[in-house]
Amino acid sequence: MQTITDRLAKRVKSIKVSGIRQMPMLAAKVPGAISLGQGIPDLKTPQYIRQGVSRLLESSNEVGKYSLQPGLPELKQLIAQRLSVEAGRAVDPEKNICVTTGAMEALAIAIATIIDDGDEVLLFDPGYPSYIEQTLFAGGKPVFVPLNESSGWVLDVKKLRAAVTKKTKAIIFCNPANPTGMVFSQTDIAAIVAVAEEFNLFLIGDLTYEFLTYGDVPMPSLIKYASIQDRLILCYSFSKEFAMTGWRVGYLYAPEAVLEQASKIHDAFVICAPTISQYAALVALTQKPESGSENIKADLAAKRDVICKRLDALSDLFSYQKPQGAYYILGRYKKTKLNSWEFTLRLLNEAKVVVIPGSEFGSQGEGCVRFSYGASIENINKAFDSIEAWNKTL
Ligand SMILES: Cc1ncc(COP(=O)(O)O)c(C=O)c1O
Repeated sequence: MQTITDRLAKRVKSIKVSGIRQMPMLAAKVPGAISLGQGIPDLKTPQYIRQGVSRLLESSNEVGKYSLQPGLPELKQLIAQRLSVEAGRAVDPEKNICVTTGAMEALAIAIATIIDDGDEVLLFDPGYPSYIEQTLFAGGKPVFVPLNESSGWVLDVKKLRAAVTKKTKAIIFCNPANPTGMVFSQTDIAAIVAVAEEFNLFLIGDLTYEFLTYGDVPMPSLIKYASIQDRLILCYSFSKEFAMTGWRVGYLYAPEAVLEQASKIHDAFVICAPTISQYAALVALTQKPESGSENIKADLAAKRDVICKRLDALSDLFSYQKPQGAYYILGRYKKTKLNSWEFTLRLLNEAKVVVIPGSEFGSQGEGCVRFSYGASIENINKAFDSIEAWNKTL
């Protein structure tokens, strides 16, 4: 006899909850565990945003209602203006922008809009796991393009080109990269765009960490490539730049033909992004003080220095690449043959430190764990004191 599970949809059974979200659930059962796991900035949502939203909650009758389905017109207008400047051409708030429930929904509706059964999607390995699940759920086939670890998890254009087949529909990647913290250079971006152009592929850029490169590392623009504007889809987030992970708001930039279709999925599944969060996003952009995201950047730059110093002191256990952007480090561990889930679970249960198993980011991530340094400096230090003590037991 068929069980209930047997009778559930194959599509949903083909995907899983990402290790990034499994680990906090496992860690919740380990009292006192310190998280270097999920990418959550430790800072409060900035005061000007909290106060702006409080005032609106009191004064406006609109904040608690559905917004227009594709988002608050004034927010879309502002986003379109900013993108137009970067693109050097007009971005239309009506035709090109949809405010979404985080970058995650932007990715999901974009992927569901362009991927048909059997379409291949090129993903970098290691890369952000949700691209895999969203591709599978849409009926597509993830095809992994290994990044080159020995040169610092950089793009190998030959491998990207070699992975293209007649079935390839899209390339999806994020810059700065999660989990490696690397930033694809202008040359890399030009090469990726050239492949998309040559083989008529959609290019989905996840720009969740676009604001966050360190020192003088430049952040290359994708939107300025007019040559692929009919196939270029960009996903943006307010989560990290404004310490707003829980507000769940981001946006999708897409060509008109794509946005028209993607809006139908947005409507059918979420109606609109949370209105209160759209107002928070509006406040975030319009009332941003001079120092705005600089404070968050400075905070994370200081944390990067601390975590790198602690990792350097643990060089018998980990090798790693110093991140150029975002706030992740993929550390390759030595000394043990444990797989990355085994290593992570031992670290959780014995050292009470939460990290994410590297295998969750692709086969090249096996033998690694991902550290997020969004935590407070105090907690980063406490976690590493604990890892140092644990290291002696290995
Ligand atoms: C690469 C990447 N894309 C998307 C997201 C999700 O962003 P949002 O909170 O805007 O849905 C995350 C969250 O950590 C991420 O790391």
